Amino acid sequence: MEKTVKLNNGVEMPVVGYGVFRIPEDETKKVVGEALDTGYRLIDTAAGYLNEKAVGQAINDSSVPRDQIFLTTKLWVQDYAGDNAEKAIDGALKRLDQDYIDLLLLHQPMGDYYNAWRALEKVQKAGKVRAIGVSNFESYQVADLIVHNEIAPAVNQIEINPLNPENDNVNWLKESNIVPEAGGPMGQAANGIFTNPVLTEIAKNHHKTVGEVMLRWNLQRGVVVIPKSVHEARIKENFDVFDFELTDAEMKQIDGLDEHNSYFKGLLTPDTVKTLGNMKFDYQN
Ligand SMILES: NC(=O)c1ccc[n+]([C@@H]2O[C@H](COP(=O)([O-])OP(=O)(O)OC[C@H]3O[C@@H](n4cnc5c(N)ncnc54)[C@H](OP(=O)(O)O)[C@@H]3O)[C@@H](O)[C@H]2O)c1
Repeated sequence: MEKTVKLNNGVEMPVVGYGVFRIPEDETKKVVGEALDTGYRLIDTAAGYLNEKAVGQAINDSSVPRDQIFLTTKLWVQDYAGDNAEKAIDGALKRLDQDYIDLLLLHQPMGDYYNAWRALEKVQKAGKVRAIGVSNFESYQVADLIVHNEIAPAVNQIEINPLNPENDNVNWLKESNIVPEAGGPMGQAANGIFTNPVLTEIAKNHHKTVGEVMLRWNLQRGVVVIPKSVHEARIKENFDVFDFELTDAEMKQIDGLDEHNSYFKGLLTPDTVKTLGNMKFDYQN
């Protein structure tokens, strides 16, 4: 299996990355360093994770050359309108202490995201960002964004795990030459996913762990994965997914686990959308 995938603008993106959602800023530098030492070459952060500075420090202190690292961050809704979007991108570059970002995503399809998308197009053309994409967008919203803009998103990062495989969205994204990326690829360790009997049996057959099976299943269906762990042994384990192959029958068995159990979509009530839309993070320098 290839360790990278080519985006629709020719940029190469690693297929396994390390996500830092909910990792406190003071722990982030250490664990990102461990991830880079393990071999991860994609790091996924966001302005809203409040740990971009530590991610940037870990990258700058690492012996891995910058051009071998694929750094993703995300713009939060509070920065979508007016001139704020471009200013926020410069703010992210400053917090990360980087000359460029490899992939910049719109974190949520909320607020003035058309304005924000045009700012992303502009900074990609200016060379501050190598590729641009979206996150948590429904496919119809991606399609609409494509129709009304110049550059199509290269990636849509959505919640994808065996209990919420998003088969239709994954298929549509792949047909549209947009890479599906799994946020929360281990189901955030919820709903008994690590003790699921089907996954446990398949893991046993391959002498692998349930976590490795979940990640491998997504990789074999063309989905980039960005697992998070703060434990070094698990950081290593989650990267050890290139030495085995699930059979077609096993892939189908896992596809059949769909419980339509999306944590994030469950949050999308009118009240929480108002809360998210009004949420202001204090990450400004
Ligand atoms: N765009 C979005 O809105 C969005 C939303 C969610 C996530 N994401 C991205 O996706 C990344 C991953 O998602 P996530 O952090 O929500 O959840 P996740 O990776 O699905 O699961 C993380 C949970 O699983 C545990 N875990 C990790 N590896 C394990 C292993 N090998 N064995 C047993 N338990 C293991 C972790 O615990 P320990 O840390 O204690 O090991 C943690 O509780 C995020 O960091 C973020 O970059 C994006």
